[in-house]
Amino acid sequence: MARDEARHAGFLNRALVAEGIELDLPKLSTKRPITWFPLSWVLYSVFLSEKIGYWRYILIDRHLKANPDNAFAPLFDFFEPWCQDENRHGDIFNLLIRCWPGLKQGLRGKLLSRFFLWSVFLTHSLTVCERGDFYRLLGMDPHRFDAEVMRQTNRTARRAFPWVFDLDQGQYLELRDRLVSCFQQMQARKAEPGALLAKLGLKLRFAGLLLRQFCQPMVPAEGA
Ligand SMILES: [Fe+2]
Repeated sequence: MARDEARHAGFLNRALVAEGIELDLPKLSTKRPITWFPLSWVLYSVFLSEKIGYWRYILIDRHLKANPDNAFAPLFDFFEPWCQDENRHGDIFNLLIRCWPGLKQGLRGKLLSRFFLWSVFLTHSLTVCERGDFYRLLGMDPHRFDAEVMRQTNRTARRAFPWVFDLDQGQYLELRDRLVSCFQQMQARKAEPGALLAKLGLKLRFAGLLLRQFCQPMVPAEGA
């Protein structure tokens, strides 16, 4: 797994160098102190980040294979083997979660599933909407791409987590649209001087939407 990740980082580094961007990685890692997280957080979050990575890359790869004219960088040629690596890494973390059955039980299992699915999906939606132009350049609709990545990752998470979100029944995706538009309004207002009350209003609305999305219904994974 470490060898795979080193290879991925090597690809990205070469792509950055080709664009004239050089990162001093050893220096970067000394700038911030190391933070230790509980084992359950590491297992749940790494499983999800590997699986969401798999779905992101495989959906882009499938789209580019169907529309080869949109593959504007040689880096895309590596997406297929790259995402298969991520898929395997996710499977390793699924096995690790099974080694500690307590991590999936009771309220703890439900809270861990809810928090990590919600936070990883939220980060994905906001990043995809911020970089919408990149997906449009590939000929993809960023909102549909984001929703498909979430649906597939949520479906895959049924194999590892005790609970997953009910994306097709509840208001999860509708709230995602409202969160994204509120976030865009907050970004647009950021540079504006004054308008403190309007900015505060947007922040409160954003917080309210976050809470509603966090509390959306979940379904037990064994019902899959
Ligand atoms: Fe990975």
